[in-house]
Amino acid sequence: MQCTLLHKRIAVADITLDDATGTIQKIQKVYAPQHLPVGISVRGGVVDRASLNEWWTDRAIPASRSGVRQALETLNVADTKLLLTRCFGLSLSDQYWIRPERAQIEWDDVNFFDNPFSDDIGDALFGRTKKTDGFDFSSPDNTSDGCLKKRWKIINGKRCLIKGGSNPFVQQPFNEVIASEIMERLNIPHVPYMVIWDGDEPYSVCEDFVTKDTELVSAWRIMQTQKKSNSMSVYGHFVYCCKLLGAPDVVPMLDRMIVLDYIIANEDRHLNNFGLLRNAETLEWLGFAPIFDSGSSLGYDKLASQISVSSGIDCKPFKKHHDEQVKLVSDFGWIDFGKLSDIKDIVKSAFSAERAKERVGEKRIEAIAESVARRVEVLQSIAQSHALIKLTTDDDVDKNIAADYIHKQ
Ligand SMILES: Nc1ncnc2c1ncn2[C@@H]1O[C@H](COP(=O)(O)OP(=O)(O)OP(=O)(O)O)[C@@H](O)[C@H]1O
Ligand SMILES: [Mg+2]
Repeated sequence: MQCTLLHKRIAVADITLDDATGTIQKIQKVYAPQHLPVGISVRGGVVDRASLNEWWTDRAIPASRSGVRQALETLNVADTKLLLTRCFGLSLSDQYWIRPERAQIEWDDVNFFDNPFSDDIGDALFGRTKKTDGFDFSSPDNTSDGCLKKRWKIINGKRCLIKGGSNPFVQQPFNEVIASEIMERLNIPHVPYMVIWDGDEPYSVCEDFVTKDTELVSAWRIMQTQKKSNSMSVYGHFVYCCKLLGAPDVVPMLDRMIVLDYIIANEDRHLNNFGLLRNAETLEWLGFAPIFDSGSSLGYDKLASQISVSSGIDCKPFKKHHDEQVKLVSDFGWIDFGKLSDIKDIVKSAFSAERAKERVGEKRIEAIAESVARRVEVLQSIAQSHALIKLTTDDDVDKNIAADYIHKQ
């Protein structure tokens, strides 16, 4: 298929997509190289096709998404990459899309920020489809990332992301609420989440933090803008890339994210779980995106008896251990520990609904509350004895991949 890659209303390049695989076969004319996705290199006017392809295919629902195989069967589509073209590659997290050759369509008429979208893909992903054919594929669900079951819905005129938890404890939706409240108390810019129920199943819901003028650029993409030298730490490389791009206030926000992740023992802050916001037209860097996706934390996949054990907790994105990662924080002075004096109540109130207690279990809730209170105490003593360290590659993560809930079970 012959088409043009656009960034909102700006034509970026003409490309050929392979109909059978959904991958980019050829890049023809490049109109606006500065509007190529972040981290795609252009050498001597030639765009790196392999990296553009990686970016494009990463837009598809990952194969590890809970329930995706069944959804593809329902939709009679062989691969999630083939869903991309069915919605012009449009997303609710950025402003890229493709226009098939000779199609008379404009961004204003098709983007999902202003225009309604179909529930068909979300229904298929949630195993709710009543249809067997005639699906309407125009949905931002085709371009949503992440392993957990999720769908976009327009609720009271707002674009909202609804996301499930992983079995057996389905703790992530509650964790999102706890993390939101901790960030609210500590004044950390964040995406607020709440829990909604569908029968016995809890889901988190949050609003789209991207607008039709802005877009999220993941830390992974930011890191692709420069080659990382072996002697440079992962943290140092990220900060260096942000500095060269001119993104403001990155280190203070990294401090906040690392502190939050320490408190909640986050195990999955990989490089697609944070990033920067930019204006999609002017390309101005607006700063760190509000913190989102903090659910894989608080011992979400551990037995209640194991939740308080501080060893064996995975850590990302910079160091393999939280005790090492927290040393990267340059300033703890902004933390008002008094705001977390009732941390156990913050945890318990997230589970206050009767069905939450039933679904998660009182013993488990108690274990989460105890362990997070302990982590706040330890953090406080770390903050008191804080000294700046030299950045090294010791304990650096080797690669950044998302937790795979399917294979973990
Ligand atoms: N509120 C939001 N507004 C805009 N985009 C969002 C929002 N929340 C998430 N996203 C985008 O959707 C992607 C998937 O969401 P999220 O990270 O919450 O899912 P997940 O299944 O928990 O991911 P993971 O595989 O990391 O566990 C994010 O990486 C981000 O690009
Ligand atoms: Mg995620």
